[in-house]
Amino acid sequence: MSDDLHISPVAGRIGATVSGVKLGGDLDGATLKEIRNALLRYKVIFFRGQDHLDAEGQVAFAGLLGPLTTAHPTVPSLDGHRNILDLDYRSGQKVDRWHTDVTFVDRPPQASVLRAIEVPSAGGDTLWANTVAAYLDLPAELRELVERLRAVHTNAYDYARIAFADDPERAKAHAEVFASTVYETEHPVVRVHPETGERSILLGDFARRIAGHPSDVSEAVIRLIQQQVTKVENTVRWHWAPGDVAVWDNRATQHRVIHDFGAQPRRLQRVTVAGDVPVGVDG
Ligand code: SIN
Repeated sequence: MSDDLHISPVAGRIGATVSGVKLGGDLDGATLKEIRNALLRYKVIFFRGQDHLDAEGQVAFAGLLGPLTTAHPTVPSLDGHRNILDLDYRSGQKVDRWHTDVTFVDRPPQASVLRAIEVPSAGGDTLWANTVAAYLDLPAELRELVERLRAVHTNAYDYARIAFADDPERAKAHAEVFASTVYETEHPVVRVHPETGERSILLGDFARRIAGHPSDVSEAVIRLIQQQVTKVENTVRWHWAPGDVAVWDNRATQHRVIHDFGAQPRRLQRVTVAGDVPVGVDG
């Protein structure tokens, strides 16, 4: 393991920087173990100055964390890179809601690796929230209630309209793919982390309703719990520089971009590590 490896928390409840590591597919076992432990403990970890890393290197590093998914179930991959989702915000892409990645499939990814290529000089930060702390902050009676609930997660709303609001051509191209690929699945609202055993809230923007409850009750319950997830004490905010890499535990976090950068270029690329079927408190 590198003697220089150093982990520093960046907020009280979530997030740490990891320095002294050059990311790639050739990390030794001890370094990888430190990275994994930091990920489980801090939920999102940040690596500055990884300018040497290209798309292949990012895929090779992410592959050390587990088998990779294809880039996205409904969005085409970066040309020539089946595992890379190209998040290029130049066309006014505006997916800026709190979410956990791809929860509308049965097995959402366990982790995501996001690499900054081009970022605004000011703005365009990303926020992450700790969904374990959010669960623990709920009053005991409310925890017992939400542990019994399941939520329906789906991509069946007009994602293209939101994502490509200023680019009708791209919206049309996306809608052609999207129209034939609607996913819907049910997950427990409280999941048990398969590695740490921690309980966490599994909701976010793809959770559109609470199973078995009318829409007004669903909306009120989701709003109440989401307020708890996203309260500022529970979050960390990262200001990107090109070459930064963030890795997050998708089983214990939600995240969102802050869309305050107007027409400035912002381009990041994401690779996701395959995950399990989320398990509730009763197994
Ligand atoms: C994402 O939602 O995975 C990307 C977040 C970002 O662009 O900051």
